[in-house]
Amino acid sequence: MTTTADLPVPIWRDELEHEYAALRARIEHLVPCLEWPMHLPWIEAINRLKQQRGAVIMAHSYQSPEIFHGVADVTGDSLALAQAAADCDAEIIVLCGVHFMAESAKILAPHKTVLIPDLEAGCSLAASITADDVRALRARYPGVPVVSYVNTSAAVKAETDVCCTSANAVQVVESLGVDKVIFLPDAFLGAHVAKQTGVELVLWQGRCEVHEKFTAGEARHARERFDAKLVAHPECPPEVLAEADFVGSTSAMGKWLAREQPRRVALITECSMADNLRAQFPATEFIKPCNLCPHMQRITLQNIYASLRDLRHVVEIPADIADRARLSLTRMLAVGRGERV
Ligand code: 13P
Ligand code: SF4
Repeated sequence: MTTTADLPVPIWRDELEHEYAALRARIEHLVPCLEWPMHLPWIEAINRLKQQRGAVIMAHSYQSPEIFHGVADVTGDSLALAQAAADCDAEIIVLCGVHFMAESAKILAPHKTVLIPDLEAGCSLAASITADDVRALRARYPGVPVVSYVNTSAAVKAETDVCCTSANAVQVVESLGVDKVIFLPDAFLGAHVAKQTGVELVLWQGRCEVHEKFTAGEARHARERFDAKLVAHPECPPEVLAEADFVGSTSAMGKWLAREQPRRVALITECSMADNLRAQFPATEFIKPCNLCPHMQRITLQNIYASLRDLRHVVEIPADIADRARLSLTRMLAVGRGERV
């Protein structure tokens, strides 16, 4: 199989600077100027190939700015991408994100070709639990419904009653109308959700390897040293969330910034996400800390190009698993429309 190292490097043309001037202006403070001439020919080649293929590129908010702003047709959090996959008209979807996101797209768009540029783009939360683990939990808590964060494999979703994302977890748990729920796999998100509902949550001890690293000391430092507002993702440890001015999902963070327009903010989440929001809110100063997700970073302009050119890597899910997993995802989308599940 061809590797990305074998790909012919697209040729620089001076006209590209002019054609992509607006993009450059949008992201010039996010992409070092030395990198721009390396990215631009790939961006142009991908956009051309994408049109020839009639493909749609979907990119999660944690993708690097040159991908998020340069080649993506659809951007957003995992909920937005799942919805976009369900509604998509294109025959080919290139999912720039991690594997569980590409699986969700395939489950919701079963007749489309869903490609992920790097099959190894995983997630510590998805890796923390198997379908057998869920069956064991069900045996231990008979009759208790299972709510799974979308950061799970298709096989785990197939054992799940209804999925959720960090954007709708409270709403999903409450939609079940029961007093006890098995909530997996993120223990920190689960503890945060439990605080906001009267529902007892049985938690799994999964963690995001990126968000679990933040500390309350770092958060306090950002506030005290830089007078920054603190905005944290609910996958962070509880003592970090306790320091935050606002705790919210990827999409909720963007809405909070639009509403509050802080002078300075520390986004306690993934670095590329903070960069992508910086482009949207130029009047706000963004302070570190942030941590990069190594799995999201596996997606590059080069492997997106290879993915489109060679139609790889095709996401396949056995039909019996996909059919059951689809129920848990479509129930989540139904809750979003205000329907009871
Ligand atoms: P969102 O559901 O907010 O998109 O987050 C997904 C994720 O992987 C966060 O680390
Ligand atoms: Fe998974 Fe954490 Fe990376 Fe999100 S940031 S994909 S939860 S490892």
